[in-house]
Amino acid sequence: MKKMKVAPSLLSCDFSKIGEEVVRMDKAGADLIHLDVMDGHFVPNITFGPAVIAAVRPLTKLPFDVHLMIDEPLRYIDDFAKAGADIITFHAEAKSDIAATIAKIKANGLKAGLVIKPNTPAEVVYPYLADLYMVLVMTVEPGFGGQSFMADMMPKITAIKQECQNRQLPVLIEVDGGISDKTVVVAAAAGTDICVSGTGVFKASDPAAAIRFLQQF
Ligand code: DX5
Ligand code: ZN
Repeated sequence: MKKMKVAPSLLSCDFSKIGEEVVRMDKAGADLIHLDVMDGHFVPNITFGPAVIAAVRPLTKLPFDVHLMIDEPLRYIDDFAKAGADIITFHAEAKSDIAATIAKIKANGLKAGLVIKPNTPAEVVYPYLADLYMVLVMTVEPGFGGQSFMADMMPKITAIKQECQNRQLPVLIEVDGGISDKTVVVAAAAGTDICVSGTGVFKASDPAAAIRFLQQF
């Protein structure tokens, strides 16, 4: 039975044909498309912004899961909403006020996600859980694809999941970084609902099989 949702990260796609890559992931059975936005300040890498997201938006009906790794997410929420984001996830460690940023995302009619880096404790997200659709727990330092999964983040996932259950809040847990056919097992056991996969799906010889494998957990 399919339980885990899979969000292929376009960071690992062939950027010379990004539109075709979105369609390829849709046909391969992805549940969402994960779009990593990096500004060269919050993380030491630069990717793409709203114009690229808007350009590929008409090519699929899959939800766009936009992961903002930028210093000032609040300034750009309206732009990413117009570009066609469905879920906007931003970092608790960024400079914007967290409550105001969540409110801005929701005022645009979108789902809000809060993400924490490996060194940020689980408790940081607790005050905001009632207003969140999703919490994203990073299992690598954000910035690059293809890094090793940090299994020591699993207690954070379990703690956040437990806190949501205690308060009867239907918040989803997403995990991002180093997800493979091996690491998905522990991520699922810890309470992950959605896993992001960049290299694990895009570099697979059979991406549809890789997605199906991850979805069974
Ligand atoms: C890293 C990004 C991830 C990345 C995951 O900063 O947030 O979404 O693309 O790539 P893999 O699955 O290769 O670790
Ligand atoms: Zn990401």
